[in-house]
Amino acid sequence: MDAATDVPETLGAMLARRGFGRRSLLKFAIAMTSSLALPPATAPAMAANLARARRRSVIWLSFQECTGCLETLLRSSTPTISALIFDFISLDYQESLMAAAGDAATRTLREAVAANHGEYLLAIDGSIPTKDGGVYSMTGGQSNVSMLAEIAAGAKAILAIGTCAAYGGIPKAHPNPTGAVGVEDLVSGKPIVNIPGCPPVPEVLSGVLVHFIAFGRLPDLDDRKRPLAYFGTTIHDQCYRRPFYDQGKFAKSFDDEGARQGWCLFELGCKGPVTHNACASLKWNSGTSFPIESGHGCIGCSEPDFWDKGSFYTSLAGGSVAGWRNAGIAAAVGIAGGAAAALTARRKPHAEKAERDPDKPKPKTADAGSAGDVPAKPKDADASSVDAAQANPKDADAVNADAAPAKPKDADADNADAAPAKPQDHDAGNADAAPTTPKDTNASSADATPAKPKVAGTGNVDAAPPNRDKQP
Ligand code: SF4
Ligand code: SF4
Ligand code: F3S
Repeated sequence: MDAATDVPETLGAMLARRGFGRRSLLKFAIAMTSSLALPPATAPAMAANLARARRRSVIWLSFQECTGCLETLLRSSTPTISALIFDFISLDYQESLMAAAGDAATRTLREAVAANHGEYLLAIDGSIPTKDGGVYSMTGGQSNVSMLAEIAAGAKAILAIGTCAAYGGIPKAHPNPTGAVGVEDLVSGKPIVNIPGCPPVPEVLSGVLVHFIAFGRLPDLDDRKRPLAYFGTTIHDQCYRRPFYDQGKFAKSFDDEGARQGWCLFELGCKGPVTHNACASLKWNSGTSFPIESGHGCIGCSEPDFWDKGSFYTSLAGGSVAGWRNAGIAAAVGIAGGAAAALTARRKPHAEKAERDPDKPKPKTADAGSAGDVPAKPKDADASSVDAAQANPKDADAVNADAAPAKPKDADADNADAAPAKPQDHDAGNADAAPTTPKDTNASSADATPAKPKVAGTGNVDAAPPNRDKQP
């Protein structure tokens, strides 16, 4: 608070008081525009807007959740400007963090809503149980359903944080005893951004907050209301093990020689090819690592219904993870070269949208390629021997043509039992094309880390459709 004027101080003043000058703020804005895939020319405007901005009220409601989302966000990094941005918001209500309890806490909530009506950001973690009148999760005698309706009415925008709030998450897993749903299943007429992940990557929330503080609106979103800059590509697009995939080098168990060499985890069940998230580039714990770097495949924790889509340890090409078949994703597999991957990724949201648009004709056969198919099992550099694969770096087609999956049945999108699509030559510019046979990419380097793509935004929250289609 500025003592002279009795109004909240600006972010610029606060940063100056803490030893951060204008140059620091500009550097931060440059990093954030890059992270948010905004044109570099917008960095000075972002810096100026941030310097002028004042504390924005945030009301955080925790519903049917495990507190993992809050934990991960609290553990984001130390004294960076990003952390100060979190200081800069006024977290006016958060049950787990506030000192008040009982009636005092409820009063705090009502006062914060009244004082900032129409202007506060509403952050929500956890799903909302709807069964039996919502009795399975109550706060102060009020059901989550009722509280969401009341508090959402006065919000400027809503942040659904974590897979639970975005899609229902683990509480919604079969048989969904509480009737759990995500925020957008209950709220309409308000800008909503989904930040899925179980838990979500903290820096994504930072980016969304910074964008909102600087420009007064949410960043560009995809048709699942996710920030396009962070969810426009798959884990597979960004994975540092991708060169091994492209070479057909796969770990067969978590402790074999391939695993020790850091080979691709596709055959151990990695869902990276059908999972959109930013963890392969932003990582966790201040950029330390992410699940695949720690030796475990991606389990698809940021995708709807990931818990019900089959074993975490069954390969996408195994035919028994049918839940992933209609993920609406054309995994950009087998593409040697970041430019091709980035191009495919840019087209992906549109391909997904087309896939979910009931009025649009859908591809009928796997041969024709389908954005809804999971990637075909890549051909193995050598199905039986890690050492042999290392010794024989020929084209995977030549090495093991027989390892390719059988020609698929009719790839009717509703046929959960259909075999994986037949690998095809991949048109790098065709997001609808089925994944290709991995190539022997001598040009690829195991050490090469794909550059973070800049994904151009295609729309904002207002342009997003009011309802996403449900996963089958
Ligand atoms: Fe917990 Fe995951 Fe739900 Fe977050 S999304 S509340 S970490 S179960
Ligand atoms: Fe990485 Fe998994 Fe893709 Fe292999 S399948 S490259 S481990 S994301
Ligand atoms: Fe989740 Fe997969 Fe990232 S499991 S944390 S989306 S690597």
